[in-house]
Amino acid sequence: MNISVKDLREKDCACDALILPVIEAGAKQYDHLGRSFEQAIKKAFSKKFSGKKNELFLVPAPDGLKAEWILLAGLGKKEEVTAEGLRQAGGRSAAYLRDNGMSKAALSSKVISSFKLSPSLFAEGALLSLYSYSRYKKETNGKTLGSLVVLSKPSKALTQELDWADTMASAVSFAKDLINTPSNDMTPSHLAKAALSLRSRKLSVSVLERRDAQRLGMGAYLAVAKGSHEPPKFVVLQYKGGSKAPLVLVGKSITFDSGGISLKPAEGMEKMKYDMAGGAAVLGVMKAVSEAALPINLIGVLPATENLPGGSATKPGDIVKAVGGKTVEIVNTDAEGRLVVADAIGYAKRFKPRAVVDIATLTGACSIALGGEVIAMMGNDKGLLDTLKRCGDNVYERVWEMPLFEEYKEYVKSDIADIKNTGGRTGSLVTSAYFLKEFAGDVPWVHLDIAGTAWVERERPYIPKGASGVGVRLLSQFVRELA
Ligand code: BES
Ligand code: MN
Ligand code: ZN
Repeated sequence: MNISVKDLREKDCACDALILPVIEAGAKQYDHLGRSFEQAIKKAFSKKFSGKKNELFLVPAPDGLKAEWILLAGLGKKEEVTAEGLRQAGGRSAAYLRDNGMSKAALSSKVISSFKLSPSLFAEGALLSLYSYSRYKKETNGKTLGSLVVLSKPSKALTQELDWADTMASAVSFAKDLINTPSNDMTPSHLAKAALSLRSRKLSVSVLERRDAQRLGMGAYLAVAKGSHEPPKFVVLQYKGGSKAPLVLVGKSITFDSGGISLKPAEGMEKMKYDMAGGAAVLGVMKAVSEAALPINLIGVLPATENLPGGSATKPGDIVKAVGGKTVEIVNTDAEGRLVVADAIGYAKRFKPRAVVDIATLTGACSIALGGEVIAMMGNDKGLLDTLKRCGDNVYERVWEMPLFEEYKEYVKSDIADIKNTGGRTGSLVTSAYFLKEFAGDVPWVHLDIAGTAWVERERPYIPKGASGVGVRLLSQFVRELA
């Protein structure tokens, strides 16, 4: 969808549908636009429409307007109008217009501006809601909403906000496409290729092969890769836009998680193609940051591999050595995410990073505890945790901090190695993070568990079913704040 700004009066905008955001405060909100608006809106309010949150009402545009239709988009009570409310209204409106065969839309920014909010939020929701994944369908309905004209005085600030919304939406789509792709087509090699497609003057990409990983002592990562015939790819993206120590983002990139020898039950296993959602999110962020040319040094690390059983697979009880020399007893091969992330964090230290943030679909316990509403967050640095919390609230990819009490160390104590890769079922959301903490050492580090949020079963106002792309907007905002 193309977005533009035009300094036009509502009645003079030729389009399929003119969107009027409306609060739950009676029919008078657009009276200043003239008699015909007044009457049309009064009519809607005389029927079922009341302006409730996410309520939509389509009416034929009255005479004197260049638009064909008017779409009233409810924002709820005055006190309820928030940035997120605008995203949701944008999402609902755009999907609705698309489904009704409209292709040109315009947005009145009057009511939005009266709340000191930006129409770019509405546009962001609209762009995100229009995502669809049809690569494997022979027939698609081909419906798209082609354009959205924001009716407003043009300004540099508004253009920048709309550009960022556009950058976010395309970065999120990029990540979602990767995650939705089934594992037969989204192998570690394919993921590496997607990373390579982001190369530019400021962004270099290197792909470490199995032998490189061996040379670097990545025994934990390689232990996961052993059961698969697909070659593992350890992908490193380096964006140079600043002069300070880099920020490193690590994304868990298991392109399929069968559990390995500790095989998962068959039911629902098909969803384990999304076990690379962390890596995809990191790629989305790298894409956005380089597109926006942010002044920062940023490194993305994707330890990519499949986790499969097989004659050469790692067996429960095996002991391996991770980067940095710690030995790990692998008591459950299904706790593979922390193994690949541990080596990626160990590898990240060579860059002397100012901080490392990892994002991973790490535990089933995460979605048991928090459902699909919030990302579980743990870490060793108060400042980073606070910043991420703020960014999460801001973009509405919310995070919730969980504890890393030192008592959890006991849970991952091994009798014969330095550490074991699971402490069993109890506390597994936090003990998985505690495991990672042992590898982060004194590097400022935060772990984000997106197992509950990376996949959406029931569509949301601007997130269609399937991969959610969660983490892209959160971490892009985070990078933007640090830059
Ligand atoms: N990829 C899974 C976690 C997961 C589960 C993500 C469901 C999304 C939805 C992870 O590798 C895993 O298998 N974790 C195990 C750890 C356990 C063996 C300690 C889990 O959480 O069950
Ligand atoms: Mn697993
Ligand atoms: Zn996994």
